[in-house]
Amino acid sequence: MRKASLISIASYLPERILTNADLENLVETSDEWIVKRTGIKERRIAQDEATSDIATKAARLAIERSGLRSDEIDALICATITPDHFCMPSTACKIAANLGLNTGITAFDISAACTGFIYLLELANSLVTSGAKKNVLIVGAEKLSSIVDYTDRSTCILFGDGAGAGVVSLSDENEIIDVHTASDGRFGDLLITPGQGSACVADENMLKNRQNFIKMNGNEVFKIAVSTLTKDVVEILEKNKISSDEIDFFIPHQANFRIIDAVKQRLKLPDEKCVLTVQKYGNTSSASIPMALNDAYENGRIKNGSLLLLDAFGGGFTWGSALLRFGGVDFDKISNAIKS
Ligand code: UT7
Repeated sequence: MRKASLISIASYLPERILTNADLENLVETSDEWIVKRTGIKERRIAQDEATSDIATKAARLAIERSGLRSDEIDALICATITPDHFCMPSTACKIAANLGLNTGITAFDISAACTGFIYLLELANSLVTSGAKKNVLIVGAEKLSSIVDYTDRSTCILFGDGAGAGVVSLSDENEIIDVHTASDGRFGDLLITPGQGSACVADENMLKNRQNFIKMNGNEVFKIAVSTLTKDVVEILEKNKISSDEIDFFIPHQANFRIIDAVKQRLKLPDEKCVLTVQKYGNTSSASIPMALNDAYENGRIKNGSLLLLDAFGGGFTWGSALLRFGGVDFDKISNAIKS
């Protein structure tokens, strides 16, 4: 049976940092409230860059670290809820052009909100193991600052911009063991950007009512996220007969420290096995898992063969989890090669 592996990971962080102190000047909030309720201290903001620009930077590095030539990439899938353009062209097509990938490759966007990277893993795994493609570039990238209402204190403190990317390739070892993706559209209204779609067209009223921005019933989303994720991670471990002790690193979607902590406690995982970046980057939706994965990789924590458990929950609702052995080259080896 054919196997697929995540053979590289990379990310790109926009330079500008938006701190809790900056937000105190915009809305009635405090650093103390934000840190206590979410764990977030700062987030990155893309200024003169669109989603495809930040995505291209992460994707270029992911290809470089995979050891493949860019003409060996035969599909590119981008998960984003902040595409460059509302309808077309897709952000994936723009990234492919920016990178100078082969004309004619398969390129498309998916919309699965914060669960985007888990959906990408399932798609890439299926494309590679079915024999349809050999090397799939997957990118989670968001410029959430373009849909955040900086007059709404209940949401503007949460979100940031960023991009993460990886390459999934045919491989005999360190495979993607299992991916589970799910959805429940009945809860769509609890986390929604109502405006600028066929249900709420772009007109003066839409803008006046700020319908083009994220609206969230945070408390309800929080409760459902905790109960859904604690169940989902247990199920994927049981299904694959893997105990939580065997997990080297837990890399959750970075929405709120308290959600991550609840799942970590359910699995009885020690702090050192949990990758946390929410304090530095906030919630970057589909980019959050690959950005966190890359953080742990560049810090030398994640190595070739590390057993990883990922989970995510987001708008839709969508959620999912993944179990995989990381197949990338040890970062120390890459950095030594760059030095020599
Ligand atoms: O990534 C996709 C999934 N998204 C998530 O998982 C996010 C899930 N939700 C959350 O993380 C949390 O619900 C929030 C961090 C958004 C909010 O925390 P909470 O503990 O659920 O607070 P709350 O919404 O119940 O609000 C509690 C109080 C309210 O005041 P009253 O009514 O008790 O007087 C809010 O008005 O806190 C107030 N509040 C704030 N105060 C200071 C809400 N936002 C702020 C703020 N600063 N920024």
